Amino acid sequence: MSGAQELDEHFIQLEQEAAHATEAALDLQQLDAVRVKYLGSKSDVVTTLKRMAELPADQRGPVGKRANDFKRTLETRLAERRRALAQSLRAPAIDVTLPGIVPPLGRLHPITQTMDAIVGCFLPLGFEIVEGPELEQAWYNFDALNIPAEHPSREAFDTFFVDVPASDPTRGRPLLRSHTSPVQIRVMQHRKPPLRIVVPGKVFRPDPLDASHSFMFHQVEGLMVDDRTNFADLRGILAQCLEQLFGPETRVRFRPHFFPFTEPSAEVDIACTACGGRGCSTCGQKGWLEIMGCGMVHPHVFKAVGYDPAAVQGFAFGMGVERIAMLKHGIKDIRLFFENDLRFLEQF
Ligand code: PHE
Repeated sequence: MSGAQELDEHFIQLEQEAAHATEAALDLQQLDAVRVKYLGSKSDVVTTLKRMAELPADQRGPVGKRANDFKRTLETRLAERRRALAQSLRAPAIDVTLPGIVPPLGRLHPITQTMDAIVGCFLPLGFEIVEGPELEQAWYNFDALNIPAEHPSREAFDTFFVDVPASDPTRGRPLLRSHTSPVQIRVMQHRKPPLRIVVPGKVFRPDPLDASHSFMFHQVEGLMVDDRTNFADLRGILAQCLEQLFGPETRVRFRPHFFPFTEPSAEVDIACTACGGRGCSTCGQKGWLEIMGCGMVHPHVFKAVGYDPAAVQGFAFGMGVERIAMLKHGIKDIRLFFENDLRFLEQF
């Protein structure tokens, strides 16, 4: 093997080594060390070039060319790597001391929040949460609640009757329940007193949509039955709940009313949250806001579920969740709850 050939192989190996070292350099300092090692005054190339004079004349040309090729190739590589390193230094570095990015958290819908707050008044008093079907049957929604066949709420313009086969043909036509009161019946049918339940849920009435009416809204029903619960218990418990919802200064009044399923019945008002009772547009100049219906469970209702009306007594109430949320937050239009505009929902 001639000296020229050996030299050629030596440079091929050197070239690979240098290329590798160039890529492996992580900063400009390391890169400069590569330059010094392979191109510096003590490097193989420089030594080889210095010793050219000792070579036979016919080898000087090829050796010189080989050594210079090596130099040029490596210089190009080093320049490229230098540019790449400089660029990555200019790129924005990650600052690990910056606070993290807080992921956007969802929240409960204002109606759910209000429903939770209402139910929250009763849970510490031993009430339990019960739910019932939204697709109800006429007997539960009306008959068992002492609402007679000729009652106007049973008209098609007051109730969504649904054209589907009845799950129990003996319990009347299927309908979207018009109140949560049928759940009273369903619970009493299957359980014996003492009972304390709250029933949150959706109800449906074919009302045209406007600022204060919706074909679907939410109610929380309550029922407490044993052998002694009386109207004073009803009054005390509801007043306490309303104070919890609207503040300790809230004034509450009970006004005689009529419901077929309670006797006596009352409507509960609170002093207007907008004017404090003086009279304004929110309360229609009355100074009071109607907030729920209630009363002592009617003996006919107890009979319908197989209870002895002489042995049990208790109260029931039902309140509209949207109305309470609107009064609590000063919301003027019920439709806002269902349009799902985040600019509205994010305020709660
Ligand atoms: N169910 C009645 C309504 O929807 C409210 C109510 C419930 C009244 C329980 C009295 C007792 O208007």
